Amino acid sequence: MDNGGLSRDQWRFVGNELLTKASAVTVRGVLNMLIENLNANDSRPVIPLGHGDPSAFPSFRTATAAEDALCSAIRSAKFNGYSSTVGIPAARSAVADHLSKDLPHKLSPDDVFLTIGCTQALEAIVSVLARPKSNILLPRPGYPYYEARAGFSHLEVRHFDLVPEKGWEVDLEAVEALSDENTVAMVIINPGNPCGNVFKYEHLKKVAETAKKLGILVISDEVYDHLTFGSSPFVPMGVFASIVPVVTVGSISKRWIVPGWRLGWLVTNDPDGILRKQGIVDCIKGFLNITSDPATFTQGALPQILENTPSDFFEKINVVLGECANILYDRIKEIPCLTCPIKPEGSMFAMVKLNLPLLESIKDDLEFCRKLAEEESVIVLPGVAVGLKNWLRITFAVEPSSIEDGLRRVKAFHQRHTKKQ
Ligand SMILES: Cc1ncc(COP(=O)(O)O)c(C=O)c1O
Repeated sequence: MDNGGLSRDQWRFVGNELLTKASAVTVRGVLNMLIENLNANDSRPVIPLGHGDPSAFPSFRTATAAEDALCSAIRSAKFNGYSSTVGIPAARSAVADHLSKDLPHKLSPDDVFLTIGCTQALEAIVSVLARPKSNILLPRPGYPYYEARAGFSHLEVRHFDLVPEKGWEVDLEAVEALSDENTVAMVIINPGNPCGNVFKYEHLKKVAETAKKLGILVISDEVYDHLTFGSSPFVPMGVFASIVPVVTVGSISKRWIVPGWRLGWLVTNDPDGILRKQGIVDCIKGFLNITSDPATFTQGALPQILENTPSDFFEKINVVLGECANILYDRIKEIPCLTCPIKPEGSMFAMVKLNLPLLESIKDDLEFCRKLAEEESVIVLPGVAVGLKNWLRITFAVEPSSIEDGLRRVKAFHQRHTKKQ
């Protein structure tokens, strides 16, 4: 019988619309739509320049030391049980030691909370901060998961711009102008997704000073930490924790190229105990008490993963990323409808501006990406998916030959669609 014999109104359950609304625009959703537009008759390989997971490419295979650590953790049979909700002590301690190497203060294991990837760390902090009437300041362009989580938690979002002319620095005047007595935090992503920028020490210090002036927390998303290959070294925001409390979120997903292992952390950089006094630390523990934990054997492997991975593994990955970023930047210069304002210096992405007036009958970034997928079997992410319409986010974390091939096809696409004078 239709609908079990009852009308829609008679069933007392319906889906939570807030969830459907919060997840309406996601990077994965847009990429799936583009994949559906691929032409099955094109015999050339698809070039995926829209993703954030290069683990399938031979140049990005994780370190043997990390694989060995995971295998021995499983074989030891010591990590078959439930973990404590904040993470097992040895792994918390290992993360504290690992991150303290780059900080002026020493983190304690109690500052570290292990999470299911960086994703659960940001879910935790957004949920902790989402009190009625509060608002949070997010970067534009950014990582749309923050908007989705904030929307789901009824936390109002206000956007500040990252300024392309200033190497994608935060518009700090906008941060001040947007903030009011209900603003609780600002988010920065460093190295940047989607812009491929790396914030300089002086700029981060200004971020800290501005946040202090406004009385807000800085959430620093460092999931791409140390993936840098330009002139700016990676500086963790925690360096400025004596100015303003900082919550750092990160994971092994990107640096070790194992996003499927789902192991991340939330770390409180709080030398003055402000987060503790404001009840944030208890609330983080509360969140972790009512959610699931990363698999215990991945936690068990973490100390060895952090200690045993040789530095040449990281160096090699950064060399490949740097090479691909150079190819991308140089080839973009040969394509008049595209402009890349700065050469990427970190992460896996570049933001590239579309010069639509040069193109015949392409009305926006979405249409550009749809046609590119259909005609050239190249996938790139429309900027609208990361908050910047008529831009593109291009991933360069692929084999160097694929980025060459991909940009050659984009150039051919440009030539075919150039407006006749
Ligand atoms: C800026 C940013 N934060 C967080 C995440 C989530 O990281 P994880 O895969 O460790 O959950 C990603 C993943 O792409 C990201 O780009």
